[in-house]
Amino acid sequence: MAAHTLSGKKILLGVCGSIAAYKACDLTRHLRKLGAEVTVVLTSGGARFVSPLTFAALSAARVYGPMFDAQDAHTIPHINLGRDHDLILVAPATAQTIARFAGGLADDLLSTLVLAADCPVLVCPAMNSRMFTHPATQANLEKISAFGYQVVPPDSGPMACKEEGPGRLPELAVMVSAVEKVFTPQDLAGKRLLITAGPTEEPLDPVRYLSNRSSGKMGYALARAALRRGGQVVLVSGPCGLEPPPGLELVSVRTAREMYEAVLERFAEVDIVVKCAAVSDFRPARCAPVKLKKKGADLFLELAANEDILHTLGTRKQGQILVGFAAESQGHLAAGKEKLAAKNLDMIVINDIQGESTGFQADTNQVTILTREGAVQELPLLSKEETAMAIFDSVVALAGGGR
Ligand code: CTP
Repeated sequence: MAAHTLSGKKILLGVCGSIAAYKACDLTRHLRKLGAEVTVVLTSGGARFVSPLTFAALSAARVYGPMFDAQDAHTIPHINLGRDHDLILVAPATAQTIARFAGGLADDLLSTLVLAADCPVLVCPAMNSRMFTHPATQANLEKISAFGYQVVPPDSGPMACKEEGPGRLPELAVMVSAVEKVFTPQDLAGKRLLITAGPTEEPLDPVRYLSNRSSGKMGYALARAALRRGGQVVLVSGPCGLEPPPGLELVSVRTAREMYEAVLERFAEVDIVVKCAAVSDFRPARCAPVKLKKKGADLFLELAANEDILHTLGTRKQGQILVGFAAESQGHLAAGKEKLAAKNLDMIVINDIQGESTGFQADTNQVTILTREGAVQELPLLSKEETAMAIFDSVVALAGGGR
């Protein structure tokens, strides 16, 4: 199975003296879980909030302290640590440390490392909101951005100092996706994408509905992949209870009709549509206003056909790239080809829904990608994240093909 974006990446994590330093423990653990090697450098403030022992255990590596150590002198750590790493991530970064970076100071190991760095530097500020909004801090942030360091904006909300405002360390998922972005080509930058995901529910009465087994996992993986590649994403999602990734516009819908309206309303504004949702082809012709009672006899349901959303998009497209999915249980390639032509698509992703590792609920998938030009690409069994990345490799190749 292909590796995660962070697999084998060497990350130097600078931790400064903020109450948010405890969140760097979870960040260390999470980055390692994704395959990264993490080396922690503590400032003197950082070491007062969380002990080096904690980080040594979590990173399974030596932790570097605020000052230079005589026993390391021969390895020149302020140069070599930076040289040996793929990214310097500073989280939490305090006003003091940001001021050090902005001023080019080199009075502790972290600031010296950053000054000598030849790898990307990602800074996640965390501080009281008045400190954050102070013109001095804002000017320092502008300065370090001009140096090429990336700054992840802090969250707003209640803080440890009992004040509210911008200055909270961003959520773990936000920091991790910023790190993933550093290692991902931004080939969807400037592109607006509309992705649909999950099942739809077609109500029969106030408590019952018709639906299908779609988990939404593939569509959400596509949304994460598109964001990671720099795209602007609108996710139109049926009910699936998944946590949407940070940084996208989520439009929650229930029925195929609601999905139709949400998609059509936004179609003109987007460049790429990936229609991954498992839309119900039919709905009960009537939805009873009150719960249907059993009457001791069989009940016959009359079903009305839902609009085919993708087909409608195919008739209205004006330069957008249209990607459909085909959920098939037999005759995959032929059925996929037929759907691609019938719905006027640029690409179709054919999905075997019968395999145990490729079905609706699975975390893995095995798909065949078919383009309008007739190219056929059979992907191996991959995680849904990796499948999503491979789908966007093909989409980007199509988009670059003079469209
Ligand atoms: N689709 C859609 N609107 C519908 C039904 C399907 O937009 N009412 C889209 C799906 O999101 C998917 C593609 O069409 O991208 C193919 O869906 P699929 O269920 O495989 O095929 P259908 O067109 O419904 O054909 P069939 O059920 O006959 O296989």
